Amino acid sequence: MKLTQAEYQQRRDHLAAEMGANSIAIIATSPEVMRNNDADYKFRADSSFYYLTGFAEPEAVAVIETSADGEDYTYSLFCRERNREMEIWTGYRAGIDGAVDDYDADEAYAIDLLDEEIIEKLLGKEKLFYRMGAKPEFDTRVNTWLKKTEQMHQRKGVTVPARVIQLNRILDEMRLFKSEAEIEMMQIASDISAKAHTRAMQTVHPGMMEYALEAELNYIFGQNGCVPSYNSIVGGGENGCILHYVENNKVLKDGDLVLIDAACEYDCYASDITRTFPINGKFSPEQKALYNVILDAQIAAIDVVRVGQSYKEPHNVAVKIMVQGLLDLGIMQGNLDEIIESERYRQFYMHGTGHWLGLDVHDVGDYKIDEEWRNYEVGMVVTVEPGLYIAPDDENVESRWRGIGIRIEDDVLVTEHGPRVLTKNVVKTVAEIEELMANSQAQNLIKN
Ligand code: GLY
Ligand code: MN
Ligand code: MN
Repeated sequence: MKLTQAEYQQRRDHLAAEMGANSIAIIATSPEVMRNNDADYKFRADSSFYYLTGFAEPEAVAVIETSADGEDYTYSLFCRERNREMEIWTGYRAGIDGAVDDYDADEAYAIDLLDEEIIEKLLGKEKLFYRMGAKPEFDTRVNTWLKKTEQMHQRKGVTVPARVIQLNRILDEMRLFKSEAEIEMMQIASDISAKAHTRAMQTVHPGMMEYALEAELNYIFGQNGCVPSYNSIVGGGENGCILHYVENNKVLKDGDLVLIDAACEYDCYASDITRTFPINGKFSPEQKALYNVILDAQIAAIDVVRVGQSYKEPHNVAVKIMVQGLLDLGIMQGNLDEIIESERYRQFYMHGTGHWLGLDVHDVGDYKIDEEWRNYEVGMVVTVEPGLYIAPDDENVESRWRGIGIRIEDDVLVTEHGPRVLTKNVVKTVAEIEELMANSQAQNLIKN
């Protein structure tokens, strides 16, 4: 499935309307990044550029110019020209004709002409919308253009942009609210990611390497034409306590849990899932007790992802349940309110409970308005990901709890009927996980 060109056009219409008359917006895609000599990282378009254009090739810049009365606008796409020889080396290019015919550009130019043509486009405009600070090399070019046009203004009196406005003020707010079609894309990404986690539960066994389990996830992503939306975390035992553990190069041990934070993107729309489960298929009493505290917290936190609730409410709900759980299990001592007030719980829960999700895994959009947490509205997608991490060397905690790291993460869409969990297709209760794993272990025994 792909978004329609009409949807991209609606977004440009919306942006142009917000820009107002006599304005210009410049949006560049990401630069290509070298991994090591002659080997690039696989190219991934800039999310905001892709959001407006659907154009996935490198070396491209979109320009939106609104008319003097603000009633109309022109969309120009600067891109690589078709070139038979280069295409043999680096693949198909839409070229100038493709930019117009397939991507609905009003005007298309060779990317090599950008420095020349952009000056023409800047002349006569009053405002420039550009995301300054995100791409240092491109910022330098924009500054050069502004310097040049400013000189023309001083010498010849022509109108040039006197104001540069952060483009993300408009675009990020647009991206925060997902359309029906975007939700479908995110549902597909979530379903594939859920399948990958299910396969991980079905294939894990003591003695397996963390990277081999990561390969099981990648198999499902790859079979569906997807790539991970961020570096996969596959942490066995105490590695689950390292929040951004990505080495994934240790042995998975009998009796330990494994924490997997991994998901894919589908046509650039991300999913973000964490599951934690026993490597041998059966939770120990301590693992189960702690797991259920986090699961209760997560389910309660998801339930407050509702229109009108504060962005922060899932965090508040999750913290309260987890602190009470830590007190009940004897892992913490003291008074519930005092622990929350002083944030002493951060010894075991040191990250937030979620973030916006969309074209970026940590998606754009303001979390606060006028310094207050904003409220949930229909069409927002947020992750809900509480966890507890008992450091392996924490001598203030009984040894039986040490080295247990658990997080449970789902992706939640705000609807007018309440929270919709996009990632519900991968099990998360102790009973469901143990049953799934027992069934697959039995199947593996039959096969062997
Ligand atoms: N996978 C990144 C995160 O959960 O924020
Ligand atoms: Mn997340
Ligand atoms: Mn995650």
